[in-house]
Parts: sequence; C-alpha cells; structure tokens
Amino acid sequence: MTIRITRRDFAAALAGGFLVSSKATAQTETPLLTRAIPGSGERIPVVGLGTAAVFDEDDETTRRKADAVVQALVKNGGRLIDTASTYGDAESVLGKVMATAGLRDKVFIATKLESPDTEELKRSLTRLKTEKLDLLQLHNVSKKQQSLERFRDWKQRGVCRYIGITSTFRGDYPAVEAVLKREKPDFVQIDYSLDNRGAEKSILPLAAEVRAGVLTAVPYGNGRLFRAVRGKELPDWARGFANSWGQFFLKYLLADPRVTAVIPGTADAGHMADNAGAMRGPLPDPDQRRRMIEFVETL
Ligand SMILES: NC(=O)c1ccc[n+]([C@@H]2O[C@H](COP(=O)([O-])OP(=O)(O)OC[C@H]3O[C@@H](n4cnc5c(N)ncnc54)[C@H](OP(=O)(O)O)[C@@H]3O)[C@@H](O)[C@H]2O)c1
Repeated sequence: MTIRITRRDFAAALAGGFLVSSKATAQTETPLLTRAIPGSGERIPVVGLGTAAVFDEDDETTRRKADAVVQALVKNGGRLIDTASTYGDAESVLGKVMATAGLRDKVFIATKLESPDTEELKRSLTRLKTEKLDLLQLHNVSKKQQSLERFRDWKQRGVCRYIGITSTFRGDYPAVEAVLKREKPDFVQIDYSLDNRGAEKSILPLAAEVRAGVLTAVPYGNGRLFRAVRGKELPDWARGFANSWGQFFLKYLLADPRVTAVIPGTADAGHMADNAGAMRGPLPDPDQRRRMIEFVETL
C-alpha cells in the first residue's frame, strides 16, 4: 500500500489541527504542534530529544549539560526523550537529572532494549529511576521472526505504556516490515531525514496501515545535513516556515502527517531550543517540500 501526500491530505491535516495556520507570525505566539499517537489518541509534542553518544559518561560535566538540555526541551514545550540501554551512561545521567529537577512526570521517556531480557529491563528502570516507562522499544530489529510477546506482556503488567521497534539500517527494513505487520507495535523508530528518504517508500506507509506512531531517528543524518549547508544562508523562500537550518530540516519531516515526532540528538541547550522551535509556525506545503528536496540534492 502506498500513501502519497496530496494537497487534500494537507488540508485535512490542517482541519485536524496537525498544521499551524500559515497566518501565524511570531513563532513563539503560535500554538505548539502536537500529534496523536495512533493507538491511543494521546497527543505528544512533535520535537523530542535523542541521546545517542551525547551523555555517555556519568560525570558532573555531562549531568550539568544534560540538565540544561532537558530543561530547554521542557521549557520550550517538548516532552519526548529517547534513550537506550546501550547509550553509554545516558540512562543513568537522565535518571539523575530527572530526579534532581523533579521532571519525571513532565517527560515522555522512551528507551530501548537489545533483547526481551528481564535483567536488561530492570537495569534500565533502575538507571532511569522510574517504575514505569512511557515507551519500551526493541532496538535494531534485524530478523523477521523477532517477537514482541515479552514486550506486550510487560505493557500489560504496566511496566510501559507503549511498545515499539527501531532500526536505522536499510538492509534490515524487510525485517522491520515483517515485525511491524505481524506484531503491530505502538511505535516504529526509523532513520528518516531530508537527504535520507528511503523510509517514505515502505516503512511510513506500513506504519500508517498498522496504526503505529513514527519516531524519526537521525533526523539530521547525524549532523551530515548541517555540514552540507555550512556557510550557506537559509533561502528566502524558506523563511516563512523556518528560522534556522535545524527547523528547515525538521519541518520537512514534520510536514508528513504520518510522522509522530522527530528526535534530534544534541548536547547543546541552545540547539535544543532551536530544534523545539520547529514545533511552532507553519509547516512547508507539498510544493515547498519538493523544493526542499531539489535544494538538498544540489548540495
Ligand atoms: N537504531 C536506533 O534505534 C537509533 C539509531 C541512531 C539514532 N537513534 C536515535 O535518534 C537520535 C538522533 O540521532 P543522532 O543523534 O545520531 O543524529 P542527528 O539527530 O541526526 O544529529 C545530531 C547532530 O546534530 C547536531 N545538532 C542538533 N541540533 C542542532 C542544531 N539545532 N543546530 C546545529 N547542530 C545541531 C548535534 O550536535 P550538538 O550536540 O552540538 O547539538 C549532533 O552533532 C539519537 O540520539 C537516538 O536517540 C536511534
């Protein structure tokens, strides 16, 4: 099944509150963009925080940096934090930051396990200093027969509110598709950026079919997009919907209503605030999205 985003889809998205009025002026005055998690209808702010390779060491300097980034996320209206049992000490750093700042109830915590292993789960809960996760994902799905039975069981027992799967490897997409179709998780997290749009062909349409929310991993291609535009000004035609390159790149993804949230990684509170700015103001329309692709293809 293929889903194409047409002008009518955008009009419907507007009516459903997915897009913000293009009459909006100052970005901070416009409403915060949220999306419904397909399986529950619960709305979450569309820009979150990724934590791969940014909070690896549980030391004073990292905790201070993480505190500033998480505070910037929350202050600017965001909630979603994505981490993993394998991201160095990130879970421990986040656990301490959330406990010290009293932020656990203000954030939506997503973590990942390498396998359906109870000991690994207990370790993540301990490190995150929480009894309940918002989203528990099976990291890097690579085999078609991988089961989410244990994850469903944990969800039923109240360990997590949602379950999901992740991958950022094109070669594993057939496995991701098979698991998505059979197990119908609440979320799929997949690599998707303006210069890496493979997920549009198979994963996004399938996610819509099985009503899974989509989180976009590596939305900046791990910083590749910023390197490609270094020294370049934001084009005039993009200034109506983006105040920065970060917002330009994120809004391309957010303009697809199948995307539930983007999770750019950052260790910089200023970058977090910039990223959160993509939750305000208009999104690019289909013509502008095509122009964004043409632009990035010339880089
Ligand atoms: N298989 C999986 O499940 C999987 C795999 C990979 C990633 N992920 C998830 O996806 C998240 C995002 O991926 P990623 O962190 O690898 O890459 P990314 O989000 O595509 O890019 C991160 C890079 O962009 C920079 N950056 C962020 N915001 C910026 C801004 N506003 N202006 C300028 N530079 C900015 C960061 O540097 P600064 O620190 O200086 O801001 C960092 O170098 C991860 O953190 C992780 O949570 C999941």
